[in-house]
Amino acid sequence: MELSSALSIHRPLLGILTMDDSEELFRGNRSNFIDIIKTGTEMGVSVCVVTVKDLKPGHKKIIGYMYNPSSKSWSQQIIGIPRVLYNRIPQREDESDPEVQRTLQAVLKMPQVRIFNPTFFNKWSLFEWLGKAKTTAKYIPATRRLSASHELEGLLKLHGSAYLKPISGKAGKGIMKVDRCVGKVDRKLEYALSIQETKGSAVIRYPKISQLWSRVKDEIGHEEYIAQQSISIVRYKKRPFDLRLLVQKNYKGEWDVTGIGARLAGKMSITTHVPRGGSIDDPEKLLAAAFGLEGTKRILLRARKAALAIARQVEKKSGHMLGEMSMDMGVDIHGGIWFFEANSKPMKFDEPQIRKKSLERIVQYSLYLIRTSQAKTGGHSVNHPSS
Ligand SMILES: Nc1ncnc2c1ncn2[C@@H]1O[C@H](COP(=O)(O)OP(=O)(O)O)[C@@H](O)[C@H]1O
Ligand SMILES: [Mg+2]
Repeated sequence: MELSSALSIHRPLLGILTMDDSEELFRGNRSNFIDIIKTGTEMGVSVCVVTVKDLKPGHKKIIGYMYNPSSKSWSQQIIGIPRVLYNRIPQREDESDPEVQRTLQAVLKMPQVRIFNPTFFNKWSLFEWLGKAKTTAKYIPATRRLSASHELEGLLKLHGSAYLKPISGKAGKGIMKVDRCVGKVDRKLEYALSIQETKGSAVIRYPKISQLWSRVKDEIGHEEYIAQQSISIVRYKKRPFDLRLLVQKNYKGEWDVTGIGARLAGKMSITTHVPRGGSIDDPEKLLAAAFGLEGTKRILLRARKAALAIARQVEKKSGHMLGEMSMDMGVDIHGGIWFFEANSKPMKFDEPQIRKKSLERIVQYSLYLIRTSQAKTGGHSVNHPSS
């Protein structure tokens, strides 16, 4: 059967690390895993899925899940611990589980295994890491931890408008926006709170900060939040858009921008997420409408430069080996670049060219890790399956 060719003793082995699942063997985006496996096969690398539960750091042999493309089925096989592990544990809650953490910490200490992207990022750490560094501070909007109303009040006094975002949020969940404006009727200060809903957003007005804060507190509940200066990002046909960059290490182990996409916000939305009515578009087209062709070139170059500086700084401060991250960036009306967030478990890019290159880079970087760890240990890095 194809298994023996998929898992040959002559091929290096890359393990995709995920969570076990009582019903489906393992969790995560299967079609993404299959794409990585197929790309690996084309490039001479065996790729298997390994669960945290099966990954017993003391054991030489563990269970891996192999995919057979002709029968479109998964099977278990006994394998050696892969030389390289690519962490795709899908949920923060799973990754922070003490048992899972024990395994991850043990794996991080194993000299013969190289694991990349071992943790999710949280939004507050990102801003702490990037806000003070010389190479990155210029891209970072003013950001505070949202613990009391004076944090928000201070930010609104300075910038007039702020985004409120959960530290561990994703896909626009829990995002709010506050605008401080002068009331038209009585010329008193008014606060407008926009709350992101499934699609579009609801706006509620409050005359006093205390009233606004009490509503914000209700919305926040026990979640931790940041408050951030809102950036007036450029619009295309009245809809704001932002850039989504994929930054990955290449075959030389160096950071490189794999591709840049754009997300155009839904009509009534305060974010650009596709599930919230946003849509995918061509960054050059959107930027050119505002800045012309030359301006667009300059902006995209600056965005690349910013992304590389940010990736290096995030990796340095996170203290872990990273192989990829996606970034959301905004472009303001003057063409300035602003960083909104980075994600260590990027969602798949739907732009076909970016997608293809992204898969190849995961395999190329894994090969780089195998090659360089071999050079270090002088040993053989081939993982021998025992069956
Ligand atoms: N400071 C900001 N200024 C302007 N727009 C912002 C700001 N922060 C976030 N946004 C908008 O909201 C979107 C979602 O914010 P993000 O920080 O990426 O949160 P999530 O983790 O939910 O994706 C961004 O892609 C951007 O369109
Ligand atoms: Mg985002």
